Amino acid sequence: MMTGTGHRARGGRGASRLSAAAWLYMAAVVAAALAVLGQAMGADPGLDFRVGQAWPILVLALLFLICDSAPATLASRQSAWSPSSSATLAAVVLIGPVGALVVGATSLLSVRRGLDLTQRVFNASMYGLSAYAAGEAYLALGGHVGHPGHGSFPGIIGPFAAAAVVHVFINHGLLWGMLMLVPAAEPGPLHRHMPLLFLADLGYATLGLLIAALWTVGGAFAAVLVLVPLFVARWAIGQFAAQEQAYAATMAALCQAVETKDCYTRGHSERVSRGSAMIAREVGMRSSRVEAIRYAGMLHDVGKLGVPTTILQKSGALTEEEFAAIQLHPMRGLAIVREIGFLDEALAGIMHHHERIDGRGYPMGLAGDEIPEFARVIAVADAFDAMTSNRSYRGARSIGDAVADLRKWSGTQFDPALVDAFVAALRREGWEQPRPAAVPPADGTAAQDHDDPTAPLRVVESW
Ligand SMILES: [Fe+2]
Repeated sequence: MMTGTGHRARGGRGASRLSAAAWLYMAAVVAAALAVLGQAMGADPGLDFRVGQAWPILVLALLFLICDSAPATLASRQSAWSPSSSATLAAVVLIGPVGALVVGATSLLSVRRGLDLTQRVFNASMYGLSAYAAGEAYLALGGHVGHPGHGSFPGIIGPFAAAAVVHVFINHGLLWGMLMLVPAAEPGPLHRHMPLLFLADLGYATLGLLIAALWTVGGAFAAVLVLVPLFVARWAIGQFAAQEQAYAATMAALCQAVETKDCYTRGHSERVSRGSAMIAREVGMRSSRVEAIRYAGMLHDVGKLGVPTTILQKSGALTEEEFAAIQLHPMRGLAIVREIGFLDEALAGIMHHHERIDGRGYPMGLAGDEIPEFARVIAVADAFDAMTSNRSYRGARSIGDAVADLRKWSGTQFDPALVDAFVAALRREGWEQPRPAAVPPADGTAAQDHDDPTAPLRVVESW
């Protein structure tokens, strides 16, 4: 549930599935919003709405509703983004804290599908509280309520900036609390992009001051003028989210294809992706490279699509020709995905993930630092997951045993610094071994795993 130049809870996870703690949290947020409104009404039964303020409230509430009703769905699908807090922050300047609260609370009437009453009430309370607190911060720092004039600048900027920061902090804070109590099935992109969205919200919040300043010369038409760039912003954020979803769908489709063909490694790509990202974060890669290595981990074995299924699932020793076909899979993988533009550095990881530090790997026999860093990272995560997963020819090894094996081959097969980084990340973050155990192929074959360093492929002389 989320919103604002901010975030709101969105539909899809019914209130009936909330935990008791989440219900309590929601009730506390709603009670706080009602208490603030009640206190304001007690202090000023007219809610400081003088006759001249009814029109701005109506227009800003309408602006808020238009923005709030057409949010960009974020990739996590747990939340949505809209630039509606521009309207509440304009209300802070033009009408004051209580008027801003009323504008924010109109989220209750949001024309969006999939929101139940509980989510509407929570969103309205969250916006109302964020707007009211922003208004109080604006007043506390000497901000003047009313139409800004020539003399208002630059003095108004400080109080308005404080109001914007308070608004975004409270919006994100209240929402974050809810997300903690309603964990996503998978943390996903929302959590990763939270800092980015926070900055974006702060940036778009400044449009509230633009609306207020334009109001002085253009009246309600100011809202229409600002609506256009707001919707361009919403469209741009929506494109970003849609692009991320398209990437994720592409990855999932390719992985599904590989795992359909090589069914005994189910879930392997996902876990290698996760392990590679753990190592990447541990060695301090910037976030764009961590994202790229996630993709590389997901797709590292996509070249298996180009290896005959009879070879992948063969139970006995391989002929030299068959082994050569397996060794071709990194090159075939590169050929399959090289035209996917966003993969970029990930391509090197896919092509070289079976190289060894001692130069005895394939396909190129690169050694040491000649091997691209992505490939060295994936090699560690790949082998670790293969060892800690069930295979039809052996049970899953324990995490301790697998770590011992990584250390054993550190410096020959694996990059020692990356093994150390993985072990450190494992200690901190843990590792979830696949559940349920990988299912052996239905035809009873006992295929070997080319990623498993404890069971090297057996090769027989061809004849
Ligand atoms: Fe592989």
